[in-house]
Amino acid sequence: MAQEITLDFLGDLRRTHNCGQLRASDDGQKVVLMGWVYRRRDLGGVIFIHLRDREGVTQIVFRAESDAAIHSRAETLRSEFVIGIEGTVERRSADNVNPGIATGEVEVVAERVLILNTSETPPFPMEEHIDVSEDVRLKYRYVDLRRPHMQRNIILRSQISLAARKTLYDQGFLEIETPFLCKTTPEGARDFLVPSRIQNGMFYALPQSPQIFKQLLMVSGYERYFQIVRCFRDEDLRADRQPEFTQIDIEMSFPQEEQVFEVIEPLIEKICAVAGFAVERPFPRITYAEAMRSYGIDKPDMRLPRFWPVEDLFPAEANLTAAGLPLVAIHIPNTGVVSRKERDDLKAYGQERGLRVYDDAKRLDRDYPEAMEKVRERVGVGESDLLFLAGWPSEPQGHRPAETVFQACGQLRLFAAQKFSDRHKLLDPKVFKFVWVLEFPMFEWDAEETRWAAAHHPFTSPHDEDIDKLTNDPANCRARSYDVVLNGTELGSGSIRIHRQDVQARVFDAIGMSREEANGKFGYLLEALTFGAPPHGGMALGLDRLVMLLAGEPSIRDVIPFPKTAKGTDLMSEAPSPANPRQLRELGIQLRVRE
Ligand code: AMO
Repeated sequence: MAQEITLDFLGDLRRTHNCGQLRASDDGQKVVLMGWVYRRRDLGGVIFIHLRDREGVTQIVFRAESDAAIHSRAETLRSEFVIGIEGTVERRSADNVNPGIATGEVEVVAERVLILNTSETPPFPMEEHIDVSEDVRLKYRYVDLRRPHMQRNIILRSQISLAARKTLYDQGFLEIETPFLCKTTPEGARDFLVPSRIQNGMFYALPQSPQIFKQLLMVSGYERYFQIVRCFRDEDLRADRQPEFTQIDIEMSFPQEEQVFEVIEPLIEKICAVAGFAVERPFPRITYAEAMRSYGIDKPDMRLPRFWPVEDLFPAEANLTAAGLPLVAIHIPNTGVVSRKERDDLKAYGQERGLRVYDDAKRLDRDYPEAMEKVRERVGVGESDLLFLAGWPSEPQGHRPAETVFQACGQLRLFAAQKFSDRHKLLDPKVFKFVWVLEFPMFEWDAEETRWAAAHHPFTSPHDEDIDKLTNDPANCRARSYDVVLNGTELGSGSIRIHRQDVQARVFDAIGMSREEANGKFGYLLEALTFGAPPHGGMALGLDRLVMLLAGEPSIRDVIPFPKTAKGTDLMSEAPSPANPRQLRELGIQLRVRE
């Protein structure tokens, strides 16, 4: 403790206003404010304090000439002390108005100060835009969360949850809870396990999502379900991934895709309105196949222009790409002159991903003038734009080889777009471009297990027209699934589900899952499908990602009060930590820790 200070009791002092509330019209009022000492300026005879609470900041004045005792008490105040102030609102003269704070027209002349608690010197300055190492912020998260920009994020998050609840209630959805102690889920490998004490040797799993339960609620006739629900996944973490995160989870009975969109789009619109952003509706829709052919990624950033397959415009003997594979024209607007070094960087990046990059438009113009004219026309290239081509020089790869090429081009397009973002300025975080991506493939090839695996989850319905492809062409079997994507981030995904047991059995066959395995994992769902399961579908939006983008933050950690680091640690409480031996004994667990 820095110094001995006698603390006051709160006693009968009652807050009358918050620190963001007072205006010139309150001049002369007696008020009581409570909060934290944010800034302190000592001008000798006068001390100014910026008092901060959740709602804002108000200037408090302590004048020695009018009250020496209170002035000397104010001399002991330090950063982050918790105080209560009784005083009178005084309008500031025009040249003293502080336009930087909402209460800047006034100050409160202190007549009584209660020091309710002291504070150690905070581990970092409380000011808005001071960069502090994230590890220190996370260790002292309770202090970090006091900083105004963090408070804005957490308040925005709360308002967004409220808006979501209201909108969904208004549309006839019921909020229904599902268990946290579950049987391992379809995505099994990434489960967090919880040992059972009562049944030694048995484990629950924390839910990766309430997927099966929400489907069961449809079987039970609840028709419209939602939940703002915590999900748990033991996966590698990134800026937009946490081991526990929150979904706005939705399921409905008897919908087509369109009806799901009719729920989700207004929901997102209302949520964006809370953050002060208007969105354009309806959101554009593209199929997965189109997304791949135009952006090389299933979560395209629609703020940037698409790329174009152009192999049809060149003579076959040009040999710019391997036979049967795409040649792609990538176009970045407004780059102006691009240096040799910048071109080399693009080339190297493309080559690392297996591409051959043709960055010299002049040479292509010389060798293939007609083709290049048509390329420019197709792409719509402007005077100061960068245009280059990328092809695949070697053997086709993967079960959908064109997709392999498009994916590499998609990465190159994003790399180039980022590289020149200062020039084209298209990656504005305040511009929100949503898009629906539809008809994902049912299956992805699992090279390790050498079999097809469900691309979304195994309860996703195949496209009506593609049911036979389940057996004879799994690579090209489309699912009735959809993602909503915002500025290149997957915000949510969902699907129309399988409600018929015969179709479900065919999907398990396609992914090589035996009846026993399927029954062992989710026999209860399969059985439920035999008891009058209605057609149903839904989706889940990632609340953390949504708030992150609306708050303009680079990481979901900035919109989660108590997040984990990339290693899954809570630096404040130091979780995870060893269990004590008695607990382990009771659980019947013996440890063999990996080296
Ligand atoms: P999915 O697994 O695609 O679908 O998850 C839905 C959304 O949840 C968010 N999300 C995450 N956010 C932060 N950290 C994570 N580790 C994380 N993982 C996912 C994303 C994602 O789009 N049951 C299905 C939904 C359904 O079919 O209805 C599901 O969970 O924003």
